[in-house]
Amino acid sequence: MNYQPGALTGEPIDTAEELAAPVTIGPEAYLSRDYAAAEADRLWRRTWLNAGRLEDIPEVGDYITYDILDDSILIVRTAPDAVKAYYNVCPHRGRKLVDTPPGMRNARGHKMRFVCGFHSWTFNLEGSCTHIADREHWQGRLDDANTRLGEVKCDSWGGWVWINMDPGAMPLRDYLEPAATLLDPFQLQNMRCRWRKWIIFDCNWKVALEAFNETYHVAGTHPEFIAFGDFPGWARNQGRHSNIGYDAPKSMDANQQAKLRIGTGDARISTAEMQRYTWEAANTNTTQTLVDAAMRLKDELPEGTPSGEVLQHWLKSARADDAARGVIWPDVPPAHNAEAGTSWQIFPNFQIGHAVNNMLCYHARPYNGDPDKCIFEGAVYQLYPEGEAPETEWEYTRAEDWPFVLQQDFANMASVQQGMKNAGFRGTQPNPYRERAIASLHYNLAKHMGEGAPRKL
Ligand code: FES
Ligand SMILES: [Fe+2]
Repeated sequence: MNYQPGALTGEPIDTAEELAAPVTIGPEAYLSRDYAAAEADRLWRRTWLNAGRLEDIPEVGDYITYDILDDSILIVRTAPDAVKAYYNVCPHRGRKLVDTPPGMRNARGHKMRFVCGFHSWTFNLEGSCTHIADREHWQGRLDDANTRLGEVKCDSWGGWVWINMDPGAMPLRDYLEPAATLLDPFQLQNMRCRWRKWIIFDCNWKVALEAFNETYHVAGTHPEFIAFGDFPGWARNQGRHSNIGYDAPKSMDANQQAKLRIGTGDARISTAEMQRYTWEAANTNTTQTLVDAAMRLKDELPEGTPSGEVLQHWLKSARADDAARGVIWPDVPPAHNAEAGTSWQIFPNFQIGHAVNNMLCYHARPYNGDPDKCIFEGAVYQLYPEGEAPETEWEYTRAEDWPFVLQQDFANMASVQQGMKNAGFRGTQPNPYRERAIASLHYNLAKHMGEGAPRKL
């Protein structure tokens, strides 16, 4: 792909510090078929990937699959405290071992042995082949090494299973830092899904993720929220990852900025309205407990209560309501809360919008190797009383059936993908303060791909 006329082409940056300055990003990483093909080998097969949730495989023998382009991974609980991942392919003649049912995001089930549908080679949970019809016909050459399932590196953090196809990969924990340390106090592993949906979009996987990794779009894309207050926010590079957060209002200490925003004007009223709108139109970033507690603010606090006190009261009463039903929010120190921000972009393709009692996660993957398409997933989690979490499954849902606020985000995606192909487009120019996570993604991506680093504007 050639640069279009008038393309912005400064010097490529080569240190993370330079991400703080204005940069431009060429469109190749989003549009080029060759770039997408190269991602298969240089990126997807060489990085840790979020592949599923541990509570989906609670019992020994429970399994799920995770597909990334041509690679399918079979993830199995092999012992109460052990999960393993294998290439989902039969070593005999290459039949996919576990098929994904039509229309499903992934396979999910329970088996104590996996029997290939073609010639019935059979594998135990440890990946060893335990049955081969006519084994003697191979004249003694079949052994464990050439008949067992290929193993994939697998570990867990935050309640998720992560896989890495690179046998020489660094340990997951090291890879995730500093996100892991900054997110650990939020005890994400204790949260359970409230809903989870997936969809195929007409845009590159990066376009989909970049619709959610900045606060700069709130005024333009979600104008309804502006009625509740301003949403100024920051973005930081965090090694291979990045995070974003809201700037703390001057009148409030760091403890109060976190994920939960309060409205302007009479904060008792505007917070309740914003919570009700968020619950009904987004169904994310809050819980029924928080909404109910916000609705009581006008009865529990006198008019004129300073907004900082409204926020304190709201959080305290919601925390108490949840505690009364056995839902204990973790205590996160104020300074830690401020540093953790509101959302993390885990390189390359996972986002965690964390809070003390709920979270919103996004995940995007290429679809069929087409740079113009991706599989996009959104999942909302929260804390539940023991045994009361709902049973959920990934639901394929048309764009118009997602919460309204997310539809607003979706509406930009195909138009960005198409717009970047326009001969008159000069290159992406992310806001260096509020959209630095975009520059950070491409900076880190370029290290895998050997090209595509942001350039100085
Ligand atoms: S391909 Fe699996 S048994 Fe033949
Ligand atoms: Fe948005």
